[in-house]
Amino acid sequence: MPSSVMSMSNAVAEHPAPVAVSAVGLRKSYGDKTVLDGVDLRIPAGSVFALLGPNGAGKTTAVKILSTLIAADGGQAQVAGHDLDHDPQAVRAAIGVTGQFSAVDGLITGEENMLLMADLHHLSKREGRRVAAELLERFDLTAAAKKPASTYSGGMKRRLDIAMTLVGGPRIIFLDEPTTGLDPRSRHTMWGIIRELVADGVTVFLTTQYLEEADQLADRIAVLNNGRIAAEGTPGELKRLVPGGHVRLRFADPAAYRSAAAALAEAARDDEALTLQLPSDGSQRELRAILDWLDSTGVEADELTVHTPDLDDVFFALTGSQQPQPQPQPQPQRPHPTGRSDRPGPFDQPKETVR
Ligand SMILES: Nc1ncnc2c1ncn2[C@@H]1O[C@H](COP(=O)(O)OP(=O)(O)OP(=O)(O)O)[C@@H](O)[C@H]1O
Ligand SMILES: [Mg+2]
Repeated sequence: MPSSVMSMSNAVAEHPAPVAVSAVGLRKSYGDKTVLDGVDLRIPAGSVFALLGPNGAGKTTAVKILSTLIAADGGQAQVAGHDLDHDPQAVRAAIGVTGQFSAVDGLITGEENMLLMADLHHLSKREGRRVAAELLERFDLTAAAKKPASTYSGGMKRRLDIAMTLVGGPRIIFLDEPTTGLDPRSRHTMWGIIRELVADGVTVFLTTQYLEEADQLADRIAVLNNGRIAAEGTPGELKRLVPGGHVRLRFADPAAYRSAAAALAEAARDDEALTLQLPSDGSQRELRAILDWLDSTGVEADELTVHTPDLDDVFFALTGSQQPQPQPQPQPQRPHPTGRSDRPGPFDQPKETVR
């Protein structure tokens, strides 16, 4: 290993990334409704942290507290090394916030919105114009810069919103559902922008309803439920929390389905959808074993899909969402081709139908 690499890794071990956001025991209630009930967070600088949770879980409340827009009822938090209670001004100077609902003024142009932000950050006229032009270019808004923001599409407004957040060069940004309502192309553009920010060393605190987004972007994810962090970890760690990979066989012909169901006694049945589910980790070895087994039993499905646990499964498992699920039929035990019949089976995690 080259010595420069050695010294880099040593440096990382000796000097872990400073903490950009930390919170201990954050609490917030509205009337008798407890929204945050003791939330702890620790977000290393230069990373992406995604806060997930069902509607009303308190994600926006957490963002508002950490960005000093509202006060917590209890607990402590530091952002960019400054205490929220003792030095909110220093926190505000270090952060940028893109709220869940747009801060764009539709009556003025995109460029004027940007220059307004530059004024708020006390940039000189010349510097303000330079920063505005640079960010409008980066967010592909130069052509529309002189048009009223009310004429922008949803995706353009969202890009302008984030460009405005970046005017002061914040090292920590809070993005509350940055891609809600965007089409897939605009969402990918936004992901690219967020990745660029992180490559520049910016810390991103993100809330999202799109689990794929958290999976794509986040170094660490926390799931907020009933006022508490129900689970926290890397996307991979969270996925390992839930069992339930499976192979799903769909049949067009009810008679073929019934004979397959009789042959594959271990499979979970969905008699309405004419589907059978077999537990599987989705590995090549297991798939080959299942295919061989299907061949040997003469079962021929019209469609075979492989389902590995994803963040949706984690989310549903942790937030207890009630999803329609196939009714399992009691079946006599038969050996599974891959010898995995002791694993949690599809009865434990029937998921395909929740999509
Ligand atoms: N100013 C307020 N007064 C009273 N209740 C409030 C206020 N702000 C938020 N709440 C309540 O606090 C809870 C959490 O709201 P919050 O906006 O933080 O949720 P969220 O996780 O961001 O939801 P969403 O996914 O819908 O954006 C909700 O029950 C909401 O009604
Ligand atoms: Mg919200």
